[in-house]
Amino acid sequence: MFKIVTIPGDGIGPEVVASAVQVINALEEKYDLEVSIEEHLFGGASYDVHSEMLTEETLEACKNCDAVLLGAVGGPKWENLPHEKKPEAALLRIRKELGLFANFRPAKVYDALVNASSLKPDILSGTDFMVIRELTGGIYFGQPRGYDDTKGWNTMVYEKYEVERIARLAFETAMKREKRLVCIDKANVLECSQFWRNIVHEVHKDFPDVELTDMYVDNAAMQVVRDPKQFDVIVTKNLFGDILSDISGMITGSLGMLPSASIGKNHALYEPIHGSAPDIAGQNKANPIATIASVAMMFEHSFSMQHVADDIYKAIEKTLESGMRTADIANSDDNIASTTEITDAITANL
Ligand code: NAI
Ligand code: MG
Repeated sequence: MFKIVTIPGDGIGPEVVASAVQVINALEEKYDLEVSIEEHLFGGASYDVHSEMLTEETLEACKNCDAVLLGAVGGPKWENLPHEKKPEAALLRIRKELGLFANFRPAKVYDALVNASSLKPDILSGTDFMVIRELTGGIYFGQPRGYDDTKGWNTMVYEKYEVERIARLAFETAMKREKRLVCIDKANVLECSQFWRNIVHEVHKDFPDVELTDMYVDNAAMQVVRDPKQFDVIVTKNLFGDILSDISGMITGSLGMLPSASIGKNHALYEPIHGSAPDIAGQNKANPIATIASVAMMFEHSFSMQHVADDIYKAIEKTLESGMRTADIANSDDNIASTTEITDAITANL
């Protein structure tokens, strides 16, 4: 029995999560799985009822399940709340409370969409790599931090255990793929980066089958757009990963295509990388593929059912190959499918 908690959130969140639930229900039938899905309020949707973006009740539910599926949060209606009441604060809190220290962002190009990117199809075709970003440490959390009238300061600091646990996850991921890991840092300038690199090399001793390469982050930014096919798995700290995962994602096409997984020791949360898209919310226009692919990542990481994940990816591919497109990935002469139409097609292709 798999216990999934959904927190659809705001804007297109509920629409794309409904698509994902439809896919999960289809998988349940196909593989005779037992899945329970429990929905909870989060973000603005929760604020409107409880004056709180994240209630203890929702948090407890997220802690007591096998996997969380998040839609998106935020929107103009809640933009002017004080900082600590904003949706972003609730997002950071949930990640922290669940101890989600590793963020996985696949950069995978679907053949059918090879023309949707700003890069040339021959550079892009066949691209399939994973960016693993450390999520709960580094300069985004280090103390001391602050600014006054004359200066601003932040601290980049990593504890040994923080680097070890993410390095281990990265090597384990590489073992399941092409066994190539690139450690991206700035060890030529930052002592913290040299420390990070040393630890990654120490952990490498436990994974001798993986080929480990070091790369400076500035070069990596260039390599990702010059020759993305060279990468299999990338591991990097919070700050560099924030930037690299966005570049890597966008070379593959639309925001509406990109899933993510955030993993901790005891919990995992899956979500599309896009936001609540208030401009198209409630119009049945959103691309649900990012959220459906997030379900694939859930079956891979949380349920260890790679064949189910592969099945989902194949159904997405088949649907795209049939020419079906939501507006965000359509060419001007394509027929535009709605959220529910493309979801029905993907479900049928399962
Ligand atoms: P956004 O990702 O919501 O939208 C950017 C553009 O991409 C919009 O034109 C939108 O229509 C389009 N888009 C996004 N997802 C799409 C999909 N699945 N299908 C088709 N088109 C899609 O980013 P934006 O506009 O900067 O933020 C809107 C709200 O979302 C803000 O309140 C922001 O704080 C929040 N946000 C929440 C995130 C989260 O919940 N993790 C992440 C990013 C933003
Ligand atoms: Mg970012």
